[in-house]
Amino acid sequence: MESPSLLRLLLLTVSLCCRPNKASLTLRPSTAQLFVRESLDLSCEEDSAGWTVKRNTTKKNMTECGDTWGDPAASSCTIFYTLPSDSGVYWCESREGATSNTVNITVTGGDVILQSPVLPVMEGAAVTLNCTTRTPSNLPADFYKDGSFIRTESTGQMTIHHVSKSDEGLYHCNISGYGQSPSSWLAVAVSPTTTTPTTPAPPPAPLLSPVRLLCHLVVFCPYCISTLLLVSLWRQRSAGPEPPVSMATVQGLDDEYDDVIADVTTEHDF
Ligand SMILES: *[C@@H]1O[C@H](CO)[C@@H](O)[C@H](O)[C@H]1NC(C)=O
Ligand SMILES: *[C@@H]1O[C@H](CO)[C@@H](O)[C@H](O)[C@H]1NC(C)=O
Ligand SMILES: *[C@@H]1O[C@H](CO)[C@@H](O)[C@H](O)[C@H]1NC(C)=O
Repeated sequence: MESPSLLRLLLLTVSLCCRPNKASLTLRPSTAQLFVRESLDLSCEEDSAGWTVKRNTTKKNMTECGDTWGDPAASSCTIFYTLPSDSGVYWCESREGATSNTVNITVTGGDVILQSPVLPVMEGAAVTLNCTTRTPSNLPADFYKDGSFIRTESTGQMTIHHVSKSDEGLYHCNISGYGQSPSSWLAVAVSPTTTTPTTPAPPPAPLLSPVRLLCHLVVFCPYCISTLLLVSLWRQRSAGPEPPVSMATVQGLDDEYDDVIADVTTEHDF
């Protein structure tokens, strides 16, 4: 009689603990390099409110949008006037300490940028790297990977048609008469179906922070203990010398289980 209730409690616990709690940071414009005096929108696309944009720069680590930089809005942030000092790594963070993907951003005072995807490119997909001056120019550009010259593209755009893991690296470009762009990391994601043992994808970052885990444990322990007590009590009674447990008693116990479940549901629906 107790097993369906226990099962329900277990399922509830699992579903609460493992509820997706993640966000991804997206940029507008979606490029890893920007000129100075541009506007940049950073938003946390999330399944629940309460995420803030944070960053590490060479000057200061772990600062939050609104501290000394950026204008925060609900789960997003705008930098209206980019400066070279805005270069750094950006991410979204929840109140519980869960973090999103990170994005490297470089703001240059120079005259050339390399526009490349900020998010990892899927293996097999096509990617276009655009080498450009502040006013879109379509001038010929030289492309480099990890410091080595690849080729010249007459329109300033280099397309890789079928991206593979070996295309991952640090890219930059230059345009004659204007100069060189900063370098940006192009990340390649291996899709699960094409994963081979020689190129394992990095494990996903843990979404359940230690604080959140502790919170779950503290919350659920009393319920788990009381449930176990109820179960053992019921076992003792049915095994004891007293007359067999009547249906009314079992019904009463069942109601108690339901109360426990109701409590869990109402108090911890965060
Ligand atoms: C930001 O800086 C902190 C403190 O130095 C470091 O622990 C953290 O890993 C950095 N975060 C990223 C995404 O680089
Ligand atoms: C950011 O840049 C560093 C150094 O170039 C690189 O190791 C890291 O993988 C980059 N992170 C992302 C998310 O591209
Ligand atoms: C890029 O820089 C290299 C080295 O400074 C130079 O030889 C080359 O001509 C430049 N390419 C373009 C397209 O400006």
